[in-house]
Amino acid sequence: MAKKYGFGIIGAGMIGGIHAEAIKGLPNAELVSICDNVPGAAEAFGKRYGCQSECELDKFMSRDDLDVVTVATPSGLHAENAIAAARYGKHCIVEKPIDISLEKIDRMIEAHAKAGTKVGGVFNMRYDHTAKLAKQAVDQGRFGRLTFGLAYGPWWRDQSYYDKGGWRGTWAMDGGGALMNQGIHTIDMLQWLMGPVKKIHAFTKILAHERIEVEDTASATLEFANGALGTIACTTSMWPGHFRTIEISGDRGTVAIADNSFFFWQFADEKPEDEAIRREHVHFPAASVGASDPKAGLIPDNHRANFADFLEAIEQNREPTISGHEARKSVEIILAIYRSAQTGQTVEL
Ligand SMILES: NC(=O)c1ccc[n+]([C@@H]2O[C@H](COP(=O)([O-])OP(=O)(O)OC[C@H]3O[C@@H](n4cnc5c(N)ncnc54)[C@H](O)[C@@H]3O)[C@@H](O)[C@H]2O)c1
Repeated sequence: MAKKYGFGIIGAGMIGGIHAEAIKGLPNAELVSICDNVPGAAEAFGKRYGCQSECELDKFMSRDDLDVVTVATPSGLHAENAIAAARYGKHCIVEKPIDISLEKIDRMIEAHAKAGTKVGGVFNMRYDHTAKLAKQAVDQGRFGRLTFGLAYGPWWRDQSYYDKGGWRGTWAMDGGGALMNQGIHTIDMLQWLMGPVKKIHAFTKILAHERIEVEDTASATLEFANGALGTIACTTSMWPGHFRTIEISGDRGTVAIADNSFFFWQFADEKPEDEAIRREHVHFPAASVGASDPKAGLIPDNHRANFADFLEAIEQNREPTISGHEARKSVEIILAIYRSAQTGQTVEL
């Protein structure tokens, strides 16, 4: 009989609930425990999802039936939690950003390599059907020479979002603002489709909020390693917020994604399936998903696909598709944007 993997979640907050729903739908996984340092939060989560609850990390990690830990704590704690998992010989899936510092990410990857356990990240957007079709077109070389990539996240978060979170909007625990927290999915998609970024020049500002340390508005201009140019613009300062847009263009094609629909799909070398893709997937969404509400549009399906790939990686003893190294790339880009904004210099990666 196929092995059933015991899962445990650290962090009984908003995304912890999505993890529990995602695990519930996996035939070879079972949620065995939740860990949160707020006793009431851990207990309520345990009751809701029918698993044990713990407040002490060591007790949580010591269970023999725990195989995979998912990390859903504030971003500044991710490496610490993932390194603890390696110490106990547990595989580990870490929410985005995989951590907020490259040094800590490298230590996390090294700890798991030494322990012989797998570590991977979460980029649920990569499992949207639009993302998969766009990636396929890139891999088939359908864009010709890639010329331009756009990652645009014109979002809104009101002041209460930052005020009630505690950790949100702080350098120590959020690691950044509109880029490190909200924009990172869009930036990960951009680099996944366009390839590595070589140079960045950027500006960041706090324009529409008080009592936050980090940017709510960011604009960066890029050169990719393949010579293409690009733009990243992400905010939480644009009321009421609208579609997250990704555009990939080359001299033989352009694809544009708004949230999880295409609004443009055209190639110079038309293929028979292009008409069906346009018919089924090309429309401008009626309303935006998550542009002003962090909970809107969060469904467990893409996390489930992300976790299923991770379990397959354990079974096949390969790297997870979103490995630690893969999840590190967007963090490296974002930190380079911050460095450029702080120094006024162009930063080379
Ligand atoms: N993939 C996505 O689409 C997505 C969406 C939202 C959030 N996230 C990420 O998930 C993480 C958590 O975000 P959230 O919105 O769920 O936050 P949240 O504040 O709702 O939940 C965080 C939970 O962690 C607990 N916690 C804090 N410190 C702890 C510790 N030392 N030990 C154990 N538990 C601790 C808190 O008590 C809280 O219950 C962040 O890194 C965020 O970037 C990802």
